[in-house]
Amino acid sequence: MSDIITERSANILSIQLNRPAKKNAMTLSMYVTMAELLNGAAKDDQIHVVLWHATGGSFSAGNDIEDFMKNPPAPGESPQAQLIHALINFEKPLVAAVQGAAIGGGTTMLAHCDFVYAGESAKFQLPFVNLALVPEFGSSYLLPLRFGYTRAAELILLGGPFGAARAAELGLVTKVVPDQTLLATATETARALAALSPAAIQASKRLMKNPLREQVKQAVKLENEVFAERVRSDDAKQAFQAFFTRRQSA
Ligand code: COA
Repeated sequence: MSDIITERSANILSIQLNRPAKKNAMTLSMYVTMAELLNGAAKDDQIHVVLWHATGGSFSAGNDIEDFMKNPPAPGESPQAQLIHALINFEKPLVAAVQGAAIGGGTTMLAHCDFVYAGESAKFQLPFVNLALVPEFGSSYLLPLRFGYTRAAELILLGGPFGAARAAELGLVTKVVPDQTLLATATETARALAALSPAAIQASKRLMKNPLREQVKQAVKLENEVFAERVRSDDAKQAFQAFFTRRQSA
């Protein structure tokens, strides 16, 4: 079974994370596949909208922590960098449906989506500092801008979890809906977007995103350099080990 499942229907590309046994934690190959799918969708006139959702009770537990230990991302090109650039450059609407855990990258990647629907079960967290890491995916720039500095500082520096209602208050989430209607709600929006003029939608998104695009790219470049250093540090290695040790002794 593939870790990512796609389906095309009525000008919508549906991308479903499908690694439920690991709470849809992102592996290197998942980043590369997602980047290729977005870059392909960008060039495909038949695709007007991307709908992003996940199998099982979780959206994504972020980067696979075992991968952080075995294949830590390098400062320049990396699978993670491929996806972040694909997200920054993607000019078609991205609609996400989030249930359960959306942790680390599972939260930060959402800052690049245009619509984020959260089921009532959604639980967000930015536990970078807790893992002796730093925020990524442009979140060190985008989240203070979106949430306000003090709110972002609380969530990034302390790394505590927050629920769907709080995420909506912060502007990370478009709307909170019951889990049972989550995918239907996101699909309805994707369909509505797919029926509108693709050129007008893309031009409008470009107009909204362009003023910040260079700053986001600059933030990503800096984040990647610091992240590459942090992820190789002894305190990060200890935190990764502690995640697996805690799980084994639980
Ligand atoms: N990387 C690798 N494996 C992960 C993972 C991650 N980010 N998140 C979860 N898993 C794995 C667990 O190791 C476990 O694997 P196993 O069954 O083979 O032992 C499986 O997914 C299920 O996770 P578990 O912790 O048992 O589920 P839970 O419902 O108790 O908790 C989470 C779910 C997501 C809250 C918890 O797994 C978690 O906190 N994960 C780490 C998230 C994180 O820190 N991500 C940030 C990366 S920057």
